[in-house]
Amino acid sequence: MVNILSPINIFKREPKLRLLFVASEAAPFIKVGGLGEVMRSLPKALRALGHDARVFLPKYATIDLEKYPLRLELEDLRPAPSEEEDPHGLFISNVLRYDNDSGETIAYFLENMEYYEKRANVYGYTDDAIRWALLSRATPEFLRHSSWRPDVIIAADWQSGLIPNYFHTIYKEDRKLSAIATVFSIHNLFFQAMFDHHFVSEMDYDSGREEIPGFNDPRLSKLNFMRRGIMYADVINTVSPTYSQEITTAEYGEGLHELLSERRSRLSGILNGIDTDIYNPETDSDIQFHYSIKTLDLKTKNKSVLQQKFNLSVRSDVPLFGIVSRLTDQKGFGLLMDAAEPLLENFNMQLVVVGSGEGHFMTFFQELAKKYPQKVGIHLSYDEVLSHTVYAGADAIIIPSRFEPSGLTQMEAMRYGTVPIVRKTGGLADSVVDYDPANKIGTGFVFEKFDHRAFYGAMVRVIETYRYPEFWRDIQKRAMKADFSWTKSAREYVELFKKAIEYHVLG
Ligand code: GLC
Repeated sequence: MVNILSPINIFKREPKLRLLFVASEAAPFIKVGGLGEVMRSLPKALRALGHDARVFLPKYATIDLEKYPLRLELEDLRPAPSEEEDPHGLFISNVLRYDNDSGETIAYFLENMEYYEKRANVYGYTDDAIRWALLSRATPEFLRHSSWRPDVIIAADWQSGLIPNYFHTIYKEDRKLSAIATVFSIHNLFFQAMFDHHFVSEMDYDSGREEIPGFNDPRLSKLNFMRRGIMYADVINTVSPTYSQEITTAEYGEGLHELLSERRSRLSGILNGIDTDIYNPETDSDIQFHYSIKTLDLKTKNKSVLQQKFNLSVRSDVPLFGIVSRLTDQKGFGLLMDAAEPLLENFNMQLVVVGSGEGHFMTFFQELAKKYPQKVGIHLSYDEVLSHTVYAGADAIIIPSRFEPSGLTQMEAMRYGTVPIVRKTGGLADSVVDYDPANKIGTGFVFEKFDHRAFYGAMVRVIETYRYPEFWRDIQKRAMKADFSWTKSAREYVELFKKAIEYHVLG
């Protein structure tokens, strides 16, 4: 008998997954922080693996329509309320879509005048509960009308926490939607709802079991969206293995550790990656002198550029530290408040700070720059281009976070041979290996205790090591070689999605 290989077998490939990410931000359309970056680069990496990954987000007024022309996908979507609940039609929305240069649809936008279009910012409105409930409810409503339907929906952070809840309740029996599995992704457990969950009275406590109230019902803003996402999703993931463990403890669990422990078998952590096309010192158009691991000497030229930009003395022998961050308590800047002056007094070092945040940190850095003008430079607002200037020009980057679900800056900086100093927590612990001169290993400097003395000690280690250029060079090279491309993590996500589908079938 002739053995004919069945073409089906030859070309047997894994079935392509259809995936819809729902989030409050996604680069390049809109980016406030790390979440936005991940919502660009993870779907992109999944598409490169052959999957059909799209994002769904609000159509903010600030989205550059010239760069990203949008087309109408669906008109007059009525996401929920009955006519009595929405007499002025405020919730009626459109869905727009964006196709990339290859003609693939990669993003959908929820267009609503009242709740997104009229607002200058992404976050921070008193009716945010309504704004995010609207996005969450519009997701199934849109999909009911759409011919494209995902196998899995990935809801990110509290803003889309109601999605798993809606799917598990109202849409459970829906003929078109009931097969869709849900994943809830925790990028930051600290933010759970409209309110600060640390101060919830017993009366306002949301067990997550009550029905979701209507958009205009004041009880909506009392819901803990994050808890509901965790409760109702088929699987839950966080953005690093260490953080996924940490959040099952009282110290890091932000009041949800018991729930997370209960759902432990559904919980996992996958370290974020970075877009190595964008963060690449060989091609980055935001930096002045391109370099690679082989031409690391050229990094010094970028250092001079950075020093000049911040009016610091131009010296190559002094270690230049960078901070590129939201200036919030999470990021650990309290440690600098105690340690920065003694460091600046005792050592020859320089510091540049790029980012904005809480007032007391802004004031602190302003005063530091005033007191040490040759040594400290500040730019207290977020600036994407400048952040690349810092990656290219600084010797080291400081990330002393109290907690850090993943953290991207340490990985981005390492790509530029900028050595990270991090606290051993969350994704920082998973991405930086502490320098050990005896064994010639390490990609950065790691300290464990959240304590200014531990931080000070790590800084002294860095400054001392910097005095030995050959050792320093080896650390830089190891950091640059570390592989943080998305491919590996994207494959882990594919396994996670399959698990979600399996669990969903089991019910
Ligand atoms: C949040 C976390 C950060 C993480 C980012 C993207 O901003 O605080 O650690 O890298 O989300 O997942």
